[in-house]
Amino acid sequence: MNQKHTVIVTGGNGFIGTNLVQLLLESRQYHVINLDALTYAANPLSLEDLEGHPDYEFVKGSITDRQLIDSLFEKHKPMGVLNLAAESHVDRSILSADDFVQTNVVGTYTMLEAARMYWNTLPDELKQQFRFLHVSTDEVFGSLGEDGFFTEETPYKPQNPYSASKAASDHFVRAFHHTYGFPTIITNCSNNYGPYQFPEKMIPLMILNALSGKPLPVYGDGSNVRDWIYVEDHCKAVKLAFEKGKPGEVYAVGASNEQKNVNLVNQICSILDNIAPPIEVPQLRDRGLKSYAELINFVQDRLGHDHRYAIDASKVQRELGWKPEVGFETGLRKTVEWYLSNPKWVDQASGGSYGEWIEKNYAWRTKKEAE
Ligand SMILES: NC(=O)c1ccc[n+]([C@@H]2O[C@H](COP(=O)([O-])OP(=O)(O)OC[C@H]3O[C@@H](n4cnc5c(N)ncnc54)[C@H](O)[C@@H]3O)[C@@H](O)[C@H]2O)c1
Repeated sequence: MNQKHTVIVTGGNGFIGTNLVQLLLESRQYHVINLDALTYAANPLSLEDLEGHPDYEFVKGSITDRQLIDSLFEKHKPMGVLNLAAESHVDRSILSADDFVQTNVVGTYTMLEAARMYWNTLPDELKQQFRFLHVSTDEVFGSLGEDGFFTEETPYKPQNPYSASKAASDHFVRAFHHTYGFPTIITNCSNNYGPYQFPEKMIPLMILNALSGKPLPVYGDGSNVRDWIYVEDHCKAVKLAFEKGKPGEVYAVGASNEQKNVNLVNQICSILDNIAPPIEVPQLRDRGLKSYAELINFVQDRLGHDHRYAIDASKVQRELGWKPEVGFETGLRKTVEWYLSNPKWVDQASGGSYGEWIEKNYAWRTKKEAE
């Protein structure tokens, strides 16, 4: 068997990171060093099955810690980095962007600079192989009207503190390629859904609120549009871009699956009505709910809420041969089922500091109350 490639994955304990680490290990091509600070968004249970795996090592630490990162390059001599560590929740960035600037901007720069210094020391053959793949978002392009799509050529126009911090990190990555010839690749992906997503994000929030009979808060009139991709499809695109992408290139990734928020919430409710009807859930039995959709509650809109995101993914399809494999209905049902079958993971993620935080910061106000 060929020797395995050692890679550093940052943010491997988060939602996409967990799915990506699993994919890399299943391929049996990689030895994975996972550098993760284990912030509130990480769940130690996500990767607990990998304890003792011969091709997996976990390092607790921050992508802002240059000394630690230098020591990882020195010790493991990786052939690449897949940079996912980030603060990722727009609503939190609106309350305060401090951590977003630290991790997304300073952290990405620190990873880049440490990686570049290491890359400089490599012999030519290894230098040619090395890749720094930066996982980014379509939110850096701002908001679309009713028509059109984001492509790799769309000008940057971030409109909230999260997307501004991701845009800043993308610019550093691009500049490192342009200035130093450092072999970077960027993927800008649309909204992901699937197993292991932290419960503050829309899809798990709706599933878990519904199951405990809490209101389902939908921003504004629910007409904002997001383009959803199943997380495994995204991870396959990231792996392919890392292996086959051209240094300096950018790939927009999406599954052509636009949904209005309110329609998405209705679809989640109808899956739940089907597999866990309210009448069969002990704590809801006496509520007289016929459908979870009765819990939908339109709330005051998010500040500066981008109206629509949609990706034209033809470049990654054409140049790397990627295509999404999981249809939305199947993916959404799998996701709902995953949250129903993993109560221990859900309890761990929903308790502790998150439980307190959501009580304190998320006094969602109905539109009426807000007027
Ligand atoms: N979720 C999406 O829909 C989506 C879409 C496109 C791009 N992205 C990007 O993909 C990446 C992963 O997103 P996600 O949804 O998995 O995020 P997440 O919030 O679920 O996970 C982030 C992970 O990064 C870790 N982390 C945070 N700060 C760190 C630091 N300073 N040092 C080391 N680790 C740190 C956390 O502990 C956590 O494990 C992010 O860069 C995000 O911008 C996400």
